[in-house]
Amino acid sequence: MQILVLHGPNLSLLGRREPGIYGSCTLPEIDRQLQALGRELGCDVTCRQSDVEGELVGWIGQAPGIFAGIVINPAAYTHTSVALRDAVAAAGIPVVEVHLSNTHAREAFRHQSYTAAVCLGQIQGFGPQSYLLGLRALHGFLSSTER
Ligand code: DQA
Repeated sequence: MQILVLHGPNLSLLGRREPGIYGSCTLPEIDRQLQALGRELGCDVTCRQSDVEGELVGWIGQAPGIFAGIVINPAAYTHTSVALRDAVAAAGIPVVEVHLSNTHAREAFRHQSYTAAVCLGQIQGFGPQSYLLGLRALHGFLSSTER
């Protein structure tokens, strides 16, 4: 089983970006943890990051037929992007949205997600663990015979 993990804008700065909110873990460290968990679960994890909305849209569009599902942190595009929402809705494969921080405990403009309603589910507020929980949830869903 192949799983795609997508990181949105500014997430390449993790480790030095607002550490009081996002912690000290870097993106390569998160990717290593995801790949280790993937090995444990028996799935192949491919991680990509982009600051460019269209590139993320393109990767989501190309995923069906290659990847069984997607874990995505759309970052700031969560709160702005109809294009990402439409890409997720069109993909037809399960997508789990994750956030490091609890966006509901932050500024009002972060309370709305354009993408959440077209995702299988959303996990947020657990730091890097949000990604690992998201991968576990997606893998569990894809492995379930009851879906
Ligand atoms: C974020 C939350 C977003 O509001 C913010 O724009 C980010 C990161 C998170 O993981 O907590 O860039 O998606």
